Amino acid sequence: MTQIELMQVALDLSKDFKFTAKPNPVVGALVVRNGEIVAQGAHESWGKNHAEINCLNNLDKSLPKDELTLYVTLEPCNHFGKTPPCTDAIIQSGIKKVVIGALDPNPKVSGQGIQKLIDANIDVEHGVLASEVADANKFFFFRHINKRPFITIKIASSSDGMSHAKDGSIKWITSAAAREDVQHLRAEHDAIITGGNTVRNDNPQMNARVDYPINQPKKILLSSESNWDKDLKFFDAPVSIIDSRNLQDVLHSLIDEDICSALVEAGPSLVNAFLEDGLCEELVVYQSPNPIGTKGISWFDDGNTIEKFGFKHTSSYTIDRDKKTTFVRC
Ligand SMILES: NC(=O)c1ccc[n+]([C@@H]2O[C@H](COP(=O)([O-])OP(=O)(O)OC[C@H]3O[C@@H](n4cnc5c(N)ncnc54)[C@H](OP(=O)(O)O)[C@@H]3O)[C@@H](O)[C@H]2O)c1
Repeated sequence: MTQIELMQVALDLSKDFKFTAKPNPVVGALVVRNGEIVAQGAHESWGKNHAEINCLNNLDKSLPKDELTLYVTLEPCNHFGKTPPCTDAIIQSGIKKVVIGALDPNPKVSGQGIQKLIDANIDVEHGVLASEVADANKFFFFRHINKRPFITIKIASSSDGMSHAKDGSIKWITSAAAREDVQHLRAEHDAIITGGNTVRNDNPQMNARVDYPINQPKKILLSSESNWDKDLKFFDAPVSIIDSRNLQDVLHSLIDEDICSALVEAGPSLVNAFLEDGLCEELVVYQSPNPIGTKGISWFDDGNTIEKFGFKHTSSYTIDRDKKTTFVRC
């Protein structure tokens, strides 16, 4: 197998753990001898062994070390986090060649893992499928480069652009199938952010109800109220209540909470505040074919369209009777 094919195997292996590794990156590793894979491993679960360690643990220690090459999709760490540095384990393994996909996106640590290996006389190559590795870890890369989480906003809209009925008479705008799709969107993110009125009016649970293992997104409530009724469904898991109207500050504060991505699910006030502050990378709209009419509250002020906020349409398809459209920042 070629170098690119081998890195692709490691990358595919890593992606199996997308929902349980988060907010950590997905990482895969292989040990190769004469072009054949002799051991493999992935970072399976947040807080557990990194991919390199799982791979080295699966390696037959009797194989001649000078014939082995370690492939790893992301630069090995060189610091103590929840686990010891992977660079130390690689050096101790006796392997003398390492091929890396992408460098660590954190500018403070990028290149340090490689340097440690080079200093230990290990032959290091990097940049093999680097952009594919970055794509597979787009939230993790975004957070380290931008010092805040990647923000996706999800809205359900009536055919006439309404968010909800003033009198609260409409419970669901979209079909059960569209709401089921939202569960997967939640599962992908590290946090769900909502606003005080949505929790007050709708009593939503806002967890990810999916039938595969995931790390549940953390719940974040932006509200000035401190006296919340903890019997509301939203409080069935720990909730961070943040009392600040400065969304930029709010998002910066999340960097210390291991949150690389957040899904905003709120009403028009908070959604428009995120959009007006330019704090949204992706917008997902589920649109029903049915209007709400004059009893509705509109998502956007007259003339404010998604395009005006600087987004372009990337994909749309139907889910049951609704249309799902994804927009990304231009
Ligand atoms: N169609 C959909 O996809 C969808 C999704 C969710 C909700 N909704 C509907 O939206 C309705 C509520 O909409 P809404 O616009 O009144 O409320 P909202 O956007 O859900 O929440 C607004 C509240 O968020 C808090 N907040 C904190 N920082 C803020 C900021 N920078 N800007 C604005 N708000 C901030 C405040 O809470 P405090 O007042 O507690 O301080 C504010 O009152 C719900 O009743 C629900 O039916 C629709």
